Amino acid sequence: MKEMNPEQQSKKTLDAWQISAQYWDKYRALIAQMFAPLTAGLIEEARIGVGQKVLDIGGGSGEPSLTISGIVGPTGSVMFTDPVAGMVETAQAEADRRDLTNIQFKQCSGDDLPFADDTFDVAVGRLSVMFFADPATGVREALRVIRNGGHVSFAVWGPKEANPFFSTVNNVVDRFVESPEEHPDAPDAFRFATPGKLAAVLEKAGAKSMVERELNFQIEAPIAFEQFWQLRTEMSETLRETMAGVTPARLPTIKQAVADEAQKYFVNETMSFPAQALIITGRKPAV
Ligand SMILES: C[S@@+](CC[C@H](N)C(=O)[O-])C[C@H]1O[C@@H](n2cnc3c(N)ncnc32)[C@H](O)[C@@H]1O
Repeated sequence: MKEMNPEQQSKKTLDAWQISAQYWDKYRALIAQMFAPLTAGLIEEARIGVGQKVLDIGGGSGEPSLTISGIVGPTGSVMFTDPVAGMVETAQAEADRRDLTNIQFKQCSGDDLPFADDTFDVAVGRLSVMFFADPATGVREALRVIRNGGHVSFAVWGPKEANPFFSTVNNVVDRFVESPEEHPDAPDAFRFATPGKLAAVLEKAGAKSMVERELNFQIEAPIAFEQFWQLRTEMSETLRETMAGVTPARLPTIKQAVADEAQKYFVNETMSFPAQALIITGRKPAV
């Protein structure tokens, strides 16, 4: 099992996301569509409404910030944050293209938020808390910067088996290429897939009234297998790394094996994978 010290691990994670930023920008329209149910779930669970001040932690290429900007309206505001320069740049460029005036951008890590106590009404993170170097510190930071009684809400993936969008490719690739074994608590998409795991982190950080919602939805987009293959192999750092070790001669065999497994999720040039996420919400105690 690969062991790295926390600084090495954090650098590896952020370097990978810096490379990923160009692909998350390239596929932004598809990502927005595919993961829209996660944004809707977060908005609902965190009770986001008109006029609120919202913090987005690990906003990536811009979601859920860009959607929330429209929900809170001109009397509200969104603070987009991400530690990766490439993510901040592409998200900000998109907000400029849309002429959004109620979003601000800050490059910072979730476990060291450069904001005063009680600055925001709500804090959210879509698919980001699993990559924090220290999730417990990150949650404590989120609670610190929201007002008493405010909600903090994180969307994370459920188990691999319930998420064939990922496992269909990964399981097949694993049959052909040996992937490096990771520590079970290493930053990874499925780090908080076990029900109760992230809720326990929130509880330990001081959050109250925890709610864990299982969100079952379809990851849908008007794309055929070919585009899915390209999107998956470009967007995922783990797959990029694994596929880099494959000889060009073997690539068609692997791709065909994935296509055979994935074909049932593609009908009439439309992709539809069942998916499961967890949305974990807690409140900062009212004093
Ligand atoms: C899977 S992407 C999700 C991006 C976006 N929220 C979305 O749902 O499309 C994960 C994001 O977490 C960010 N991230 C990684 N480490 C982080 C940290 N320590 N604090 C905050 N965000 C982090 C990455 O830079 C990346 O933008």
